[in-house]
Amino acid sequence: MSFHVIEQAPARLNRSELAVPGSAPQMFQKAAESEADVIFLDLEDAVAPDEKADARRNIIKALNEIDWGTKTMSVRINGLDTHYMYRDVVDVVEQAGERLDLIMIPKVGTAADVYAVDMMVTQIEDAKGLKKRIGFEHIIETALGMQNVSAIAGASKRNESLHFGVADYAASTRARTTIIGGVNPDYSVLTDADDQGGRERHWGDMWHYALARMVVAARANGLRPIDGPFGDFSDRDGYLAAARRAAVLGCEGKWAIHPSQIAMANEVMSPSEGEVTKAQRILSAMAEAEAAGKGAVSLDGRLIDYASIRQAEVLVEKARQIAA
Ligand code: GLV
Ligand code: MG
Repeated sequence: MSFHVIEQAPARLNRSELAVPGSAPQMFQKAAESEADVIFLDLEDAVAPDEKADARRNIIKALNEIDWGTKTMSVRINGLDTHYMYRDVVDVVEQAGERLDLIMIPKVGTAADVYAVDMMVTQIEDAKGLKKRIGFEHIIETALGMQNVSAIAGASKRNESLHFGVADYAASTRARTTIIGGVNPDYSVLTDADDQGGRERHWGDMWHYALARMVVAARANGLRPIDGPFGDFSDRDGYLAAARRAAVLGCEGKWAIHPSQIAMANEVMSPSEGEVTKAQRILSAMAEAEAAGKGAVSLDGRLIDYASIRQAEVLVEKARQIAA
């Protein structure tokens, strides 16, 4: 293990993150009653320019007046390249900072962007005497943000999570797709011809590199990697497949841009009963091995060692959080 200790962000369940436009207050109560782990009230791309001020007011009122229970509450502010952003931060933190857990920063490009928001939030928290420190979630969704993802991940003690914003990332990198998430038949390989001359097409995941790169930067800095939106909410199988791919790579949550996606995210991002039982058996087997002075043993015909303990502990801890 490196001498460098990775400080972990506060442990929050973040299996599902529901996006709710700030300009649609009629959706707030239903969101509060949903099973989403995290809700972000949006001031950015789901809100038209002439609705920004109203959306801000709606969000402040809702944070103060609606009973959000134990949900983690976030607000997606506008980008640092817009003049909406400073007022988003000032008004929301000053007037609803008590109930706000996180600020989501879209299109973050450099560590200096994080520094700028950190400086503003710190001043407002101090001036208002807020006791709870507001955390940051960053959407990695531009070529610049991806280039600087490691520096962004390490840029503030407020950082909690990185999110892959596939739609803006596609636009920024000029990827040839107009769908939000999902796959593209042009990103595929052809097998060699079989005896009859037939060839098969195997579709690939065009987002693999981006997501994997973001996961590494997040984990190396103790942050939660979260997969972003899947636009076609009528395609349940497509959503599940995307969520499973993200989970396999190490993501611990996925956005829900429609309430119907919340349960799917929660299910995919929770360890199954079988996985938890297996993890508990690994921990017992390793405890026995250790007591007998051994560092590695076999369980069900497979080698397990100290690395298996760490993997098993992550699963068991996640199950404990979900049950709490
Ligand atoms: C999310 O903000 C995205 O652009 O996908
Ligand atoms: Mg975006």
